[in-house]
Amino acid sequence: MTERFSFSLAATDGKARTGTIRTPRGEIRTPAFMPVGTAATVKAMLPESVAATGADILLGNTYHLMLRPGAERVARLGGLHRFMNWDRPILTDSGGFQVMSLAGLRKLTEEGVTFTSHIDGSKHELTPERSMEIQRLLGSDIVMCFDECPALPADAAAVEASMQLSMRWAERSKIAFGDRPGHALLGIQQGGVTRELRAESAEALKAIGFDGYAVGGLAVGEGQEAMFGVLDYAPDMLPEDRPRYLMGVGKPDDIVGAVKRGIDMMDCVLPSRSGRTGQAFTRRGVVNIKNARHADDPRPLDEACGCPACQGYSRAYLHHVFRAGEMISGMLLTWHNLRYYQDLMAAMRAAIAAGTFAEFETTFHADRAEGDI
Ligand code: GUN
Ligand code: ZN
Repeated sequence: MTERFSFSLAATDGKARTGTIRTPRGEIRTPAFMPVGTAATVKAMLPESVAATGADILLGNTYHLMLRPGAERVARLGGLHRFMNWDRPILTDSGGFQVMSLAGLRKLTEEGVTFTSHIDGSKHELTPERSMEIQRLLGSDIVMCFDECPALPADAAAVEASMQLSMRWAERSKIAFGDRPGHALLGIQQGGVTRELRAESAEALKAIGFDGYAVGGLAVGEGQEAMFGVLDYAPDMLPEDRPRYLMGVGKPDDIVGAVKRGIDMMDCVLPSRSGRTGQAFTRRGVVNIKNARHADDPRPLDEACGCPACQGYSRAYLHHVFRAGEMISGMLLTWHNLRYYQDLMAAMRAAIAAGTFAEFETTFHADRAEGDI
């Protein structure tokens, strides 16, 4: 039977890895960037357009979908893939992280977390068991353990207690997930920026045993230097033969630095969110399309980009529709940004396969240093 979840490495270059995750819904080329489709849509994009940017997998959110439209409703309507018209793999986050950043009142206990909805103030509960049930109802292909992620900086004792709670929740998540061929469950390493806690967390997760392992608890206020400091050792603590997912990262240079350190999967709202606020990522850096200096500029955003925004429209047009508040502004810039991110991933995969990741990295940074964007 080929209907299994698997991961195979094709090549490594230094610590950087390229390979393939296989799922019954399709293959995911790694390193992979997952566009965020929080509320059953990648905002401003049709699913076929998301696929056309080169994305193999999307991310969905337990927290948002349980509140609206509700996991049981999505299940009655045929699951999240059918509901949002995306038939490729979907990874869902487990909800705890979003409760901590978005919910109103919240109360954390050993059992789980109770909270009030940021939408209507209604009261809800998430536990490892309920999070696994919701992700099953959604039909998620790659399910995340229910965890807790402290905002940094936090005192050492609090980070340790939180990590240990997350490890107990990881064990409950694994039991509740059960045996679901073709679906994967990923553990989430916590431990802040403390090496010993990261090691303790990795050992606890490996003892439970997961289909893949995420590095959680980063990009929460510690800064890039501290994050890279953790990534210098954290991926090495996780099994080599399983995918490693860095959650919620990041800017293009964060992504290159993470791949260099052995990360296989990432997700971030940045390309889609920035597209709606007039920021475009290019090889040479960020273009703020609202800036008046683009008003008469006939050039595309990036002459080397194959996306519809760069193929058919000038910076002057993109500036105009942004200023006029036209919907096509968010659509074109989101498409461009997602294509930029996917082209970046494809370039890294090719460089790792060719053994030229160091040259890739030099060019990546040199292009950006040139300025004049
Ligand atoms: N998204 C970004 N960081 C985290 C994390 O530590 N845990 C979870 N569940 N989601 C995240
Ligand atoms: Zn483009």
